[in-house]
Amino acid sequence: MVRALDLLSFARPLVGDMPLELWLLDLSGPPPAEAIAWLSQEERDRAARFAFSLNRDRYLNAHIALRLVLKEYCGLAPQRQRFVPGPDGKPQLTEPADCHFSLSYAGDVALMGIDCDKAVGVDIECDRPIPDADELSVLHFHPREQLALSSLPALFRHGTGFLQGWTRKEACLKALGHGLTMPAAQIHSGLKGRRPVRMDGRVVLEVGCCPPLTGYTAAWARTIDHQDRHA
Ligand SMILES: CC(C)(COP(=O)(O)OP(=O)(O)OC[C@H]1O[C@@H](n2cnc3c(N)ncnc32)[C@H](O)[C@@H]1OP(=O)(O)O)[C@@H](O)C(=O)NCCC(=O)NCCS
Repeated sequence: MVRALDLLSFARPLVGDMPLELWLLDLSGPPPAEAIAWLSQEERDRAARFAFSLNRDRYLNAHIALRLVLKEYCGLAPQRQRFVPGPDGKPQLTEPADCHFSLSYAGDVALMGIDCDKAVGVDIECDRPIPDADELSVLHFHPREQLALSSLPALFRHGTGFLQGWTRKEACLKALGHGLTMPAAQIHSGLKGRRPVRMDGRVVLEVGCCPPLTGYTAAWARTIDHQDRHA
């Protein structure tokens, strides 16, 4: 079935205690052909390289929904939106430059964070058992996060507990634009709650878990100015 090209058929806003806007994007179903024309040649070339049509359709739907949400915030028509990669590959709008967003995929959905002032990062993961959570945390978690994780009941530690820590960390790295090029263990983003994140003694980010989403664990992060260190 072909979907109507309205925002709410692709995306719904999430409500909660956070300083940025979050949208859950529905990536299921075939992407509408007329909206594929909105995408750049690079995006269409990348879509064509997916080995499986399911992944290609999810990618196309995500980039169509992204444009529909961005239009609500910056007023720019989907076909006029242009993106450039940052130094470590984080895509950003060329115009308006103060419209910041972040995208993350999990199964048939994607999470999008948007803010019209500060750089943001989001990450979403499908809930699942993580049998090697202890080993992964030694490699990627801050020592204080490893300690917090080790105090959790085994079932939670090898699942949602680990994923909360992981998504918070990845959201921070994506807000900074580094992605996984930066060693994740350097950041103390914690396992729960809304909290400031320091680097070199300065508060650079705020991080939190997303409102509950059945079947998913997700987190957001937003950069902070030095003068806002009370956050
Ligand atoms: C970017 C990265 C964090 C994505 O993590 P992931 O769990 O695989 O994927 P997610 O679904 O959470 O996020 C994917 C989205 O992250 C965004 N992204 C890409 N690079 C990013 C970066 N450096 N910082 C923040 N966000 C980034 C894109 O919007 C991407 O969506 P797209 O594939 O539709 O363009 C991870 O792949 C990474 O850090 N890679 C290392 C950097 C790299 O290889 N860069 C290559 C280009 S120089």
